Amino acid sequence: MNKFAAMGLAGLLTAASTTAMAVKPEDAINYRQGTFSAMAWHFGTMGAMVKGKADYDAEDFSRRAEIVAQLSKLPMEGFVPGSYEGDTDALPAIEEDWDKFEGGMNMLVERTAALAEAAQSGDMAQIKPAFGEVGKTCKGCHDNFKD
Ligand code: HEC
Repeated sequence: MNKFAAMGLAGLLTAASTTAMAVKPEDAINYRQGTFSAMAWHFGTMGAMVKGKADYDAEDFSRRAEIVAQLSKLPMEGFVPGSYEGDTDALPAIEEDWDKFEGGMNMLVERTAALAEAAQSGDMAQIKPAFGEVGKTCKGCHDNFKD
């Protein structure tokens, strides 16, 4: 059963699901792992600044926050049927509890956008809590859906 189609959304998502169905599971796994790795690259550097382990550079932080916000929209397309075994840490629970998983992804998109906005203030008092919310979203999903 195609979960994207099951969501009943027309247009864009239907097109995305058609693309997704045409790909090999191992390509989808590489794709989503790549997007997460790129996200972690930037988020890690941002974390060092938030924790004071690296000098805070407002412009660089903001640039990375924008990148993370854009990247957060990408992995979803890589979670296709048949891609929960093999060289992956994604758990079959994703398919079994799709709504919750999708909710977690949507939350990531929202909270990384909020972080990118907070980053523009250049004010750590605003950035810190927004960063924390994103971190909780990463961890919350990994606890449930990543081996
Ligand atoms: C809604 C769920 C969800 C959210 C939110 C999420 N992840 Fe993940 N993440 C996953 C799953 C599932 C995998 C396993 C992918 C695989 O191995 O196929 C993963 C894998 C990863 C990996 C390993 C990639 C690799 O090369 O194997 C990293 C790093 C990572 N996530 C970082 C993050 C960061 C940083 C955030 C927050 C900014 C985040 N993730 C948010 C579900 C999520």
